[in-house]
Amino acid sequence: MEQKRDQWGSKLGFILAAVGSAVGLGNIWRYPYLLYSNGGGAFLIPYFFALFTAGIPLMILEYGLGHKYKGSTPLAMARANKKWEWLGWWPSINSFIILTYYSMILSWAVNYLYFSLTQAWGTDTNAFFFNDFLKLSSAPFDLGGMVWPIFFGITALWVINWFICYRGVSGGIEKLNKILLPTLIGIMVIIVIRGATLPGASLGLNKLFTPDWSKVMDPKVWIAAYGQVFFSLSLAMGVMMTYSSYLPEKTDINNTAFMTAFANSGFEFLSAIGVFGILGFMASSQGVGIDEVASQSIGLAFVVFPKVFTMMGAFGKIFGVLFFACLVFAGLTSSVSLVEAFSSAIIDKTGMDRKKVVTLAAVGGYLVSIFYATGAGLYFLDIIDAFINSYGIVVVGLAEAVVIGWLLGPGQIREHTNAISYYSIGKWWDVMIKFVTPTVLTFMLVQNIVNEIKSPYGGYPSLALAILGWGVIGLGILLSVVLSKKAWKNNSLENYK
Ligand code: TRP
Repeated sequence: MEQKRDQWGSKLGFILAAVGSAVGLGNIWRYPYLLYSNGGGAFLIPYFFALFTAGIPLMILEYGLGHKYKGSTPLAMARANKKWEWLGWWPSINSFIILTYYSMILSWAVNYLYFSLTQAWGTDTNAFFFNDFLKLSSAPFDLGGMVWPIFFGITALWVINWFICYRGVSGGIEKLNKILLPTLIGIMVIIVIRGATLPGASLGLNKLFTPDWSKVMDPKVWIAAYGQVFFSLSLAMGVMMTYSSYLPEKTDINNTAFMTAFANSGFEFLSAIGVFGILGFMASSQGVGIDEVASQSIGLAFVVFPKVFTMMGAFGKIFGVLFFACLVFAGLTSSVSLVEAFSSAIIDKTGMDRKKVVTLAAVGGYLVSIFYATGAGLYFLDIIDAFINSYGIVVVGLAEAVVIGWLLGPGQIREHTNAISYYSIGKWWDVMIKFVTPTVLTFMLVQNIVNEIKSPYGGYPSLALAILGWGVIGLGILLSVVLSKKAWKNNSLENYK
């Protein structure tokens, strides 16, 4: 007997979950700086171009594939074309790998949420973060000791990941997103309103939006735009196919893809305004230029912002709590999507019970995550993340577009989604999938490889890059191929519809 596939309780629940996956740390700490450093207002041209020519088309492809073939990423790929099953496994495995460090970053954010109550980071926020908090060791293979606050945070996050996915699609993931996503947006709106009205905020906002048109001619800026769109929409990671496989027969896929993308972009703009308002305040109260305070990623969240929160006095405590809560909520909805993408693949393949698979995945993921709670955690994260983003996402996205565009025929997916959608997408979509997306991604891939050869990532020792970078990529591909040779339980490959 085939088990009945889980289903979303409502279409809104699906959209919230998909947006929850897309809205992540990248929206909060990556996009604002990217916009600022790639031409400000002028960056919106390559950005929207990338969104319409690659982001949304690939989103429709992933939604369409997951829905048509009703399966997690490997199952959907195998049903589309058995030869390409491994291509569905690789992103699922990458999801698992990403999870192991994602939980560490979230653990940092949870710790900082707590620190923000007393502003425990003191005046030298940089030294506090790297020395006192992370206890960063000297090199990737110098593990240092276990850092207990990070360890406890990781433990808590895995319990939450496990609990949510254990409860299933509508009972767990959908409920979580229905609560967290509106809360997240509400908090962000408060941050933006206050951030943009701080004294000096206009300094930051002007800098952020003033267009530098010369950048529009720079190919690097275009690559950055495409990269951000793929990353931000959580494409080529197995999530969107898996999520859409839980949709009922009749659902408006085309429209939903546009809505997911717009909601994600909207959140990106919001956070850009909030972040640069706050940076403007900081620069003007210190009497320095925006260039000196603008930053991204962990430097923004754990070094620069804590400093601003301290400068704000009593209100900074509230601001700090709101900001770190934002990071935690945005991260949680993304991390459960990764657990689901991985677990769903295993459930489909083995026919095992969801509860059992989710439990095994959580225990396994947790055990690996513990390595990140050491003094070398930041190095592991940095290398693995860079390689998965430069190669994992790019190669999988490229292969998806080529397999569907050239082997399966994009018409099949387009006709499927058009038949159930209110708006039909035209032949332009085929052109995007067959030509535009593969061209851009090939370009990105070549550029990433050339850069890596010219200057190995982050100046790390070659052995560290060989093992944590190329090794993790190679292992992922190898495992994918091995898994794709194994048989599907319950004849699930043929039995659908
Ligand atoms: N979209 C996420 C962000 O903007 C990052 C991300 C990329 C992601 N791929 C993913 C999150 C897959 C969850 C699942 O931060």
